[in-house]
Amino acid sequence: MASGRSLLVLLLPILMAAAVLSASAAGPGDIAVFWGRNKEEGTLREACDTGTYNTVIISFLTGFGNYGNKYTLNLSGHPLAGVGDDIKHCKSKGILVLLSIGGPNGTYSLPSPQSAFSLADYLWTSFLGGSHTGVHRPFGDAVIDGVDFYIDQGGADHYDELARRLASLSYNKVTLSATVRCRYPDPHMTSALATGLFSRVHVRLYGDLKCTWADREAFEAWAVAYPASKMFVGVVASPDVDQDAYMFQKDLYYNVLQFAQKLPNYGGLMIWNRYYDKRDHYISSS
Ligand SMILES: *[C@@H]1O[C@H](CO)[C@@H](O)[C@H](O)[C@H]1NC(C)=O
Ligand SMILES: *[C@@H]1O[C@H](CO)[C@@H](O)[C@H](O)[C@H]1NC(C)=O
Repeated sequence: MASGRSLLVLLLPILMAAAVLSASAAGPGDIAVFWGRNKEEGTLREACDTGTYNTVIISFLTGFGNYGNKYTLNLSGHPLAGVGDDIKHCKSKGILVLLSIGGPNGTYSLPSPQSAFSLADYLWTSFLGGSHTGVHRPFGDAVIDGVDFYIDQGGADHYDELARRLASLSYNKVTLSATVRCRYPDPHMTSALATGLFSRVHVRLYGDLKCTWADREAFEAWAVAYPASKMFVGVVASPDVDQDAYMFQKDLYYNVLQFAQKLPNYGGLMIWNRYYDKRDHYISSS
């Protein structure tokens, strides 16, 4: 007959296993992935058919604003034909489709309020719900769900005007997200985020500021600063992107998520990017 104490000793591993199971059952939340950074990653449709992602972020609109109002879409050599149908396919599966503007390697800035309005009108008529006869729509009649702001260079001005204009053109229907540097605040996005129009913030816990999950207070600072936005932990899918910031899956699940999921506005993970995720099976198994 086991005493109470030895019974507990016997039960403890079982209880712990159950705790781990229930923690992993809670899952990582929504998973967003950047697509469009490497032609070898396969099509957008294929990414959506993995069943892994709830959001795909087409990247990037690398040129806008200061450059003669010329807009440059860089999908790293993916053929444009077919992307529109793939967007429709992804949306039919309930996957949110965003287009990201800016990025680490573009040439962009908004020198004036007028350039912000022009960009908003361009995004509205060329990718979102608006249309004008004669306006070229790179993805045809496919309508994306929203715009991700990945502003990493140039001035910080007028992105608030861009956000407001997009919101008003769409009667607040368009989803706005911000993909920010890990350290709070990110000067490029401060005024835009102050509009309160961004429903999600993806925090890049990697990259040139030497961010890793060891800086998790940085993530917490973002979460506290924008309680009305869903917060996403941005991670790299391969050590090839950022060796110092790369986390093994078990650390991601049992360390990062255990902490992040306790924040009331935790939204999920943002994976950089589909190419590495497909190649290394970081989150996706295909
Ligand atoms: C598109 O982006 C890729 C990746 O950053 C870059 O290597 C390439 O030169 C860009 N293409 C153009 C036409 O700018
Ligand atoms: C893009 O920008 C990143 C970060 O600034 C840099 O490390 C990388 O070399 C750039 N890639 C290209 C193709 O210019």
